[in-house]
Amino acid sequence: MFSGEIGSPMNKKLILGLAAAVLILGAAALWLFQSPEPSAAVSPGVEAGEISIRNVTSEAVEYEIREADAQGPAKKMIVKPGGIHRLNAAAPLDVSFERAGRKLEHRLFPGKPYSFRNDHNDLLEIYEGSHGWQEVEDLAPFVPTPMEVVDRMLELAGLEADDVLYDLGCGDGRIVITAARTYGCRGVGIDIDPARIRESKAGARRNGVRGLVEFREADAMKVDISRATVVTLYLLPESNALLRPKFESELEPGTLVISHNYHIPGWEDREVRSEVVKDADGKDHTLFVYRR
Ligand SMILES: C[S@@+](CC[C@H](N)C(=O)[O-])C[C@H]1O[C@@H](n2cnc3c(N)ncnc32)[C@H](O)[C@@H]1O
Repeated sequence: MFSGEIGSPMNKKLILGLAAAVLILGAAALWLFQSPEPSAAVSPGVEAGEISIRNVTSEAVEYEIREADAQGPAKKMIVKPGGIHRLNAAAPLDVSFERAGRKLEHRLFPGKPYSFRNDHNDLLEIYEGSHGWQEVEDLAPFVPTPMEVVDRMLELAGLEADDVLYDLGCGDGRIVITAARTYGCRGVGIDIDPARIRESKAGARRNGVRGLVEFREADAMKVDISRATVVTLYLLPESNALLRPKFESELEPGTLVISHNYHIPGWEDREVRSEVVKDADGKDHTLFVYRR
């Protein structure tokens, strides 16, 4: 009997061997890119018994706040553009505000930072932020780029071993780590949240790329990025707008800047390509490629 045939003792061994290999490879993939640990109960720059609300819009925002599910009168508040309110909150608070003539209500949780921002329709919304420090820009909350999208961003960058990739707001470090692992290039990840930097360093160790990458807990607005040959971003459009002057003054002409989902306002003439990528759930992600 041909030894490769299904059902032969040789094949049973082969099948068992293959099944074991699949299990081991699956476990290894899970281990190398574990999903991020759920965000800590208390975010940086916010105390356990408080909630911070920042106003990232260019206009004063009026809102009302009351203890969650309380029946009594709500407290009226106004937060100036760029301002931040710190509210004592042992328990969740309900915030309400006007948006296009309708009253919107959201529940906010102690130990969390929030920001009033305009959404993609330019209407007021409140979002969870990444930190509650007044003097540091809150560029975006932590939401990781799906791995299929990371892979495409790195392909678009056309990376080679002598490239230096900077990910501003690096989250769990997946873009920098994948670039080093796949293309052998160096990378620097910057994040304001110490928990993200711990995850990134652990990820670099697991993936065996510690010698190629560096992760720094710092404000992306303040780090020197002049060594970068490629910059990756997954930040909000108003944050990209804040970073644009830094790109213009620090990046060498020719440096590629690849932004996930959000364009860089004012860099329309520098856009060299944009495309839509689907993630594993079939959700669309737009990638914008710019050349400095
Ligand atoms: C949407 S996540 C992107 C994570 C990662 N780049 C990715 O694509 O998977 C944005 C990250 O920016 C970080 N961040 C927000 N403001 C920052 C600042 N001023 N400096 C550095 N990082 C900041 C947040 O902590 C968060 O991890």
